[in-house]
Amino acid sequence: MSAASAFDDDIRRARALEQANPAEAGRIYMSVLEQDPANIEASNALERLNDPHRYSSWMRINCVIDPRDDIFRFIGTGPYSHNPIREYLSDGWRTLSELMVVMDKLDQPLTRVSSFLEFASGFGRFTRHLVKVLPGRVACSDVMPGSMEFAREQFGVEAFYSSFEPEQIEFPRRYEVVFVLSLLTHLPIEVWGRWLKVLAGAVAPGGVLIFTVHNEEVLRDQLGVKFDETGYSFLPSSESPSLEASQYGTSLATAQVVAEQVRQALGTDPVLWEECAFWVGHDAIAIRPHG
Ligand SMILES: C[S@@+](CC[C@H](N)C(=O)[O-])C[C@H]1O[C@@H](n2cnc3c(N)ncnc32)[C@H](O)[C@@H]1O
Repeated sequence: MSAASAFDDDIRRARALEQANPAEAGRIYMSVLEQDPANIEASNALERLNDPHRYSSWMRINCVIDPRDDIFRFIGTGPYSHNPIREYLSDGWRTLSELMVVMDKLDQPLTRVSSFLEFASGFGRFTRHLVKVLPGRVACSDVMPGSMEFAREQFGVEAFYSSFEPEQIEFPRRYEVVFVLSLLTHLPIEVWGRWLKVLAGAVAPGGVLIFTVHNEEVLRDQLGVKFDETGYSFLPSSESPSLEASQYGTSLATAQVVAEQVRQALGTDPVLWEECAFWVGHDAIAIRPHG
C-alpha cells in the first residue's frame, strides 16, 4: 500500500530538522503525506511536532497510529480507501455513533456507563474515540504483541493481554459493558461457547455483553455465501497476516446457528439483536448475563 521507502530520504531529512526547524520539518512531512497518504511515519511525526496540520488538531483525539496495526493496513487497502489515515481515524467515529445507537436501544446510554471493557481492541482504532467519551472508565484487551503497551501509553487506559485460551484470561475486574467488535466473526464456531461463557463472566451485575456476528442476509445476498445443512462455514483467511489463519480466520454462520450457540453457552436469549448495526454487515447481539 504505502511506498514508504520512496520517501525515506525525505523522512530522514525532516527528522534531522525537527529540533532546529520544526516548521520546515512539518512542511517536508506534509509533502510526503500529500504524495503518500498512507505514510504513518509522516503523520505520526506531525503529531509529535504538534504541527498545525496534524490530524489531532482537527479530530481532537489521539491520532498516533501504530505501524503494527493490521486493521490500519486492512482499511488502507480497501476499495473505499482514498485517504487511508483519515479513513482509519474516522472509521472509529463510525463505531462510536453506531455503538451509541445500540446502547440507546438497550436503554443504557453510553455516556453514563461506569466501566467499559473493549475486548479485542487491536491497536486502538476505536479506543482513541471511546476514551474521549468515557475518560478513566475504559479498559481494553487484545493478543497482538505491543498493543497493550501502545494503548496504555497513548490512550491512558487500563490494558491487559488476552489469551488464545479464553479460560486463561485474567480479567482485573468485571465491567458494566463488555464490547467485542468482530472477534467471534473470526473464531471457529467450535470455540464460540467457551468464549461466550468467559466474556459473559466479565460482565458486572446489571451490565451487558455486546458482540458482533456477520449478518446472514448480507452474507447470502451481497456476498453470495451458500450455507450447507450445518449453517456454518469457516474460511482460513482474515485481514490479519499476524494471526494463525486456522485460529483466526473468517467465521460465517446463519442467525439460527448463532442463536443456538448463545442459548447453549449461556442458557439465555439476546436482549437485543440489531441487524447490520456495525459497518456494512455486522449484527450487534446484546446479552444480559445477570438477567
Ligand atoms: C477484526 S479485528 C477488530 C479490532 C477492533 N475491535 C476494532 O474494531 O478495530 C479483531 C481483533 O481481535 C484480536 N484478537 C484475536 N484473537 C484474540 C484473542 N484471543 N483475544 C483477544 N483479542 C483477539 C485481533 O488481534 C484483532 O485486534
